[in-house]
Amino acid sequence: MKLGIPKETLTGEARVAITPEIAKSLIGKGFEVCVERGAGEGAHYHDDTYAEAGVTLVDRAEALACDIVAKVRRPTVEDAAQMREGAVFIGMLETCGEDEVASALLARGITVLALERIPRISRAQSMDVLSSQANIGGYRAVIEAAARYERFLPMMMTAAGSAKPARVVVLGVGVAGLQAIATARRLGAEVYAYDIRPETREQIESLGAKPIDLDIGEEGSGEGGYARELSDEAKARQQQLLADELARAHIIITTAQIPCRPAPQLVAPEVVERMREGSVIVDMAAGSGGNCPLSKPDEIVTEHGVIIVGHTNYPSMMATDASAFFARNIANLLGIMVDKGEDGSLSLKDLDADEITAAAQFKPQTSE
Ligand code: NAI
Repeated sequence: MKLGIPKETLTGEARVAITPEIAKSLIGKGFEVCVERGAGEGAHYHDDTYAEAGVTLVDRAEALACDIVAKVRRPTVEDAAQMREGAVFIGMLETCGEDEVASALLARGITVLALERIPRISRAQSMDVLSSQANIGGYRAVIEAAARYERFLPMMMTAAGSAKPARVVVLGVGVAGLQAIATARRLGAEVYAYDIRPETREQIESLGAKPIDLDIGEEGSGEGGYARELSDEAKARQQQLLADELARAHIIITTAQIPCRPAPQLVAPEVVERMREGSVIVDMAAGSGGNCPLSKPDEIVTEHGVIIVGHTNYPSMMATDASAFFARNIANLLGIMVDKGEDGSLSLKDLDADEITAAAQFKPQTSE
């Protein structure tokens, strides 16, 4: 069974779906791994290292013509046209409904495993790229904020004077938010955090941060552990109650998202205006509408003296580790997708029979 790894073509995407180490273990399990030449360069995984691991280096068309094609980001319509009919695609499809890429894949009878659809259940944790990449994102977002903040994060007492710890507020305490809290704590900041899901309170405290309690008259827990969208009244109340907490913050990391909905607006322009000059806001939701309306996707802007960072791809800024985690997720997913025959050959299992691969499949009837 041939596994093809094309190079990522989206601007700014440095990750690769399979690393040499994971390729070697997959080859040991019976796969033939075909990697497009140069696919790992952006993440410092070079062709000669892949070759040493037993990988066949190929051109793009050959990588796309394999039985299973694994990518980090969604393919293009042109990629879909080069894939073999009846093949399997594994990667982020990055769409909620059926768009032209999804249609192009489905029209060729390609089985599409959209990684963002993997259910958030314990058994699927080792295959969950949303988590592995959000964890990296949360870490990198704090590093970004610390690098742009022209003051200390920890309390500092020196012969030349002392500095108070930075006040960091993390909004949205999912995977990225939890890692942001942990990272800011490690750097010595005073950390406060808020989420609409009440179950996050204990997690915030366990990381040594202080939960921000707001009585907005509604709970935000939705299906599958995700948040749901609040009513308009609750949204307005939330913004009003949050305003004073946020205006006092020196660094705000926002991670609040709702799947397939625009990100909730949490940091109003009036709040930014009240913040101390030189403060930093890292809006991790800048790519899905933004938690702060002043953030701009993939730009760093300064408004009222506050630096607002709108990067949309933190994992790619840490492409080496991000690719290593991503590749392990893919290998674990492949592990439940294939059977090994007595002759050592691999065959694809019935992907509808396992709850993980059944849920991850993008099918026309399940599109919203
Ligand atoms: P996400 O990236 O979808 O959203 C980030 C956070 O923003 C969430 O905690 C959400 O509650 C919060 N949020 C949304 N609207 C908000 C608002 N108006 N104000 C404040 N906060 C708001 O979340 P992520 O990281 O993907 O996690 C979603 C859920 O999945 C969590 O319950 C998490 O524990 C669970 N999970 C389960 C896994 C498993 O069992 N395999 C793996 C990873 C996550």
